[in-house]
Amino acid sequence: METTKVAIIGLGTVGSGVARLLLDHGDRTARHAGRILWLEKAVVRDLKKPRYCELPSGVLTDQVDDVILDPGIKVVAHLVGGLEPARTIMLRLLEHGKDVVTANKALLAEHGPELFDRARELGRTIAFEASVAGGIPIIANISQCLSANQIQSLHGILNGTSNFILTKMHDEGASYGAVLAEAQRLGYAEANPAMDVDGSDAAQKLAILAHLAFGARADWQDIPRKGIDTLDVLDVRYAKEMGYRIKLLAVADLEGDTLELDVSPALVRARSPLAEVNGPFNAIRVEGDAVGPLFFHGQGAGQMPTASAVVADMIDVAVGRAAITFRTLELWSNRKARVTTLPDDDARAKFYLRCMVDDHPGVLAQVTALLGAGEISIASVLQHEPLDGSGVVPLVIMTHETTEGAIARACEAIDKLPAVRSKTVHMWVRD
Ligand code: NAP
Ligand code: HSE
Repeated sequence: METTKVAIIGLGTVGSGVARLLLDHGDRTARHAGRILWLEKAVVRDLKKPRYCELPSGVLTDQVDDVILDPGIKVVAHLVGGLEPARTIMLRLLEHGKDVVTANKALLAEHGPELFDRARELGRTIAFEASVAGGIPIIANISQCLSANQIQSLHGILNGTSNFILTKMHDEGASYGAVLAEAQRLGYAEANPAMDVDGSDAAQKLAILAHLAFGARADWQDIPRKGIDTLDVLDVRYAKEMGYRIKLLAVADLEGDTLELDVSPALVRARSPLAEVNGPFNAIRVEGDAVGPLFFHGQGAGQMPTASAVVADMIDVAVGRAAITFRTLELWSNRKARVTTLPDDDARAKFYLRCMVDDHPGVLAQVTALLGAGEISIASVLQHEPLDGSGVVPLVIMTHETTEGAIARACEAIDKLPAVRSKTVHMWVRD
């Protein structure tokens, strides 16, 4: 049987999983690729660190040039996180004739145009299934299987770490900080976990999906985003009481030729499919004009689910399938964007508000008067007992549909009332 020499750069959480699949299940990969994928080298920074996999002698190296300058190595799984030196390594691999598989969404969201242009110029391929939603094959589905459709909307839970934390907050009332440490220990979080919990990682993934599904040229930094890092467990509790769960949702909704993009914690109705996505799992609800609604669900982070996507890409690259898709998709090419993105202010939704107010007569009337002045219609109001006998009561309000801009202005006005004790919280409600 023919042999294709492959390499891995970065043998951390994902890279070790890839090595395990290649070494322990070589028969499986050979059957699907019609050739042996031979692991020639695995590059790390620190040769002394313990690894989650056993490598044959001579495979481990701390010299990236052992891969870049070896003309026999054809396919490289590039599993180093962050922007630099990841970008330089990727460019050098392409320039030395390698096809590259990556899981690094930060790199693609930031330098996609440069990297994809360079790969096209050199006749090389970049495959990146693992960069969005870990083990869920969402890139292949959107770019190939659904190509007869105009995608109308994508609503996704795209960050496993945030979802793991939210699940523990909801089910166990756990505090945010304690659960983040657990997510890091389990290998779900980024090297810089701030990217997971402040919505950046989900925005980077949404930018990639929006590009594939809508031809949008959104810079991930321009996508309005909030994370779960400022979420109060109080809101998780009140949402639960009202029959909702809070999820960090990445949303792309197409209206005509404008696209709304947003990443923020939102209330979703309990027992709806998105509400039932728990732990490190991800999900994406896709609506296509021909196919209708589809729901993808699976592990969005972690060693073996992510390695599953990387190795499938390595097989596709080795047999030449990925090159065809890569050429026809014209990813991040100079083609004009097909849609414009909608300013967040104009995005329409129902909202959840929580104001912390003095428990005095007339305060509720002052708050509702300001909402009325902003043309915001109230669907329900819930007032709780004062917290810790402080005399401050949480006032929870659900609105009918309005705009983000109207809600933001109303909250600003509410926060100026003398009876309001802290900044009013507002979140989207996605039924
Ligand atoms: P990780 O555990 O931190 O591993 C990174 C690896 O890269 C380490 O083995 C490190 O070597 C190596 N490395 C760093 N700089 C290097 C350099 N200059 N030269 C050679 N090797 C270098 O990261 P990870 O969790 O596997 O994530 C890798 C990528 O996959 C990231 O882009 C991440 O966003 C993405 N991703 C991760 C997951 C997940 O669940 N973890 C899921 C989907 C996508 P040492 O071990 O010697 O330090
Ligand atoms: N840190 C990411 C997450 C890994 O938690 O979803 C998968 O991209």
